[in-house]
Amino acid sequence: MAKILLTGGAGYIGSHTYLALIEAGFDVVILDNFSNAKDDVPARLKDISGKQVHVYQGDVLDRTLLDDVFATHKIDGVVHFAAKKAVGESVAKPLDYIHTNVGGLLNLLAAMDGAGVRRIVFSSSATVYGDTSVQPIPEDHPCTYTSPYAFTKIAGEQILEQLPDNWAIGILRYFNPVGAHQSAMIGEDPEDTPNNLVPYIAKVATGELTQLGVFGNDYDTPDGTGVRDYIHVEDLADGHVLSLKSLIETNQSHTVNLGTGEGSSVLDVLNAYSEACGKKLPHQIKPRRDGDVAVLTARPEKAKATLGFEAKRSLADMCKSSWAWVNGQRRNSN
Ligand code: UD1
Repeated sequence: MAKILLTGGAGYIGSHTYLALIEAGFDVVILDNFSNAKDDVPARLKDISGKQVHVYQGDVLDRTLLDDVFATHKIDGVVHFAAKKAVGESVAKPLDYIHTNVGGLLNLLAAMDGAGVRRIVFSSSATVYGDTSVQPIPEDHPCTYTSPYAFTKIAGEQILEQLPDNWAIGILRYFNPVGAHQSAMIGEDPEDTPNNLVPYIAKVATGELTQLGVFGNDYDTPDGTGVRDYIHVEDLADGHVLSLKSLIETNQSHTVNLGTGEGSSVLDVLNAYSEACGKKLPHQIKPRRDGDVAVLTARPEKAKATLGFEAKRSLADMCKSSWAWVNGQRRNSN
């Protein structure tokens, strides 16, 4: 059974990927500094999987700790999620973002190389495509950054491209991950007022926020609101399992989009969420948000051809699972 190190494995996408890897028969060790994850995530992962969870609390910038992990476990591959991910914050704190995201990757790669572990799946983002009217976007579209966060993802990809042929590298460019695990025991859980659409709508559904502000209804899209390629986080997690399996079986590197290939507008998502929670959620049209593009959707064919990946879950599934998780959390805390 292959053993995988999951950095950032207690976070939103990391925790769902943990469960998908366990289900696929992998042995998994988590390394997480819990800067953006709740302390009880490991206990929840144990309850869902029925298996002891192996967690190191620590940072990818801590080389001594990384060396200790690689010396203690015979790791066959790494999935690297641990990174900062808020676009707005990256504009305010570019050095922090570069230090954690680029410095963390470099430190991890050096530790991996030292331990002779040369298989890595890297969390990248559709943000690497910048502001482009080419939609849906194929992987060979040029990369350009529009924020320090996007810069760190492009830099990460370019660093990985420098590694010699004895490395097997999976670069996964996520579109808009939403939804929660079918158990409703883990999901996205932002502490502050969310910036992203689905977490914001979820708080309107619970009554914590009064209404959704829709950022612009004058885009060149069917209903005038922004269109994105939302992908269920469990589909995204399955994509990581397929990426790792491909690296292990073929030793060939790949760079692929993980999306559905289908676009949904802000109002489509609001309607699907209203349907899921059983009440019509209010909204108000606001001015466009700085830096937003009209449409961002994936060409999903390469992930299918290379990994056999195909997103299976619908927008309704994404909203239902999000609501089951958010509503369950609210009941527990009351
Ligand atoms: C953002 C990030 C992207 C990141 C992704 C994570 C930017 C520029 N990009 O993408 O790098 O990978 O989140 O999921 O921040 N919207 C509203 N009202 C709201 C919030 C959002 O109308 O309160 C609209 C936006 O204008 C957009 C759509 O909803 O059209 C999706 O927004 P969001 O969830 O923030 O994701 P992105 O901006 O696509």
